[in-house]
Amino acid sequence: MKFINKILLAVLAVLVIIQFIQPEKNVNPGPQPNAIFEHYPASDQVQAIVKKACFDCHSNNTNYPWYANVQPIAWWINDHVEDGKRHLNFSEFATYKPKKANHKLEETFEQVEQHEMPLESYTWIHSEARLTAEEQKLLIDWAKSTRASIPVPETSEEH
Ligand code: HEC
Repeated sequence: MKFINKILLAVLAVLVIIQFIQPEKNVNPGPQPNAIFEHYPASDQVQAIVKKACFDCHSNNTNYPWYANVQPIAWWINDHVEDGKRHLNFSEFATYKPKKANHKLEETFEQVEQHEMPLESYTWIHSEARLTAEEQKLLIDWAKSTRASIPVPETSEEH
């Protein structure tokens, strides 16, 4: 067998083998009592925007496309979900202390204003998550007003 054929066969074998090593899926059915919208009001429109554009990486429930079962794509998606959730999890938002919650909402409108979020590699495939200027404004205004409703305790002075 030609050397190149051996290499191709080895690559194929590895691709087959890694299909059996699947990361755990981010799927948690059932009530999410700490979810942000359970504690902070938002219009149906804002909720729909956050759900379609942010929840796949920033909640306890990712809506997986079929190719999420194909390795090594599954690892790549899993990395984004793990990393995204670690930074900000809207399903666990009510567990954040006021200072953190306030800061995460500030980050939220900043990231959207700067077009950093949702990630481009995501909107490239998920066209429904490409936010229109109007949707961005709704999301930004909501994050700003919700942030204003979360007072940050003074840490410098103890009275
Ligand atoms: C495809 C996955 C993905 C989607 C969709 C996504 N994010 Fe992210 N997000 C990440 C990852 C990964 C990070 C951490 C690394 C980074 O900052 O790039 C992050 C970081 C953030 C941070 C920074 C948190 C901090 O304090 O460091 C904010 C805020 C944020 N995202 C908000 C959003 C919002 C709002 C949306 C929807 C409009 C969104 N993200 C959609 C993956 C995603």
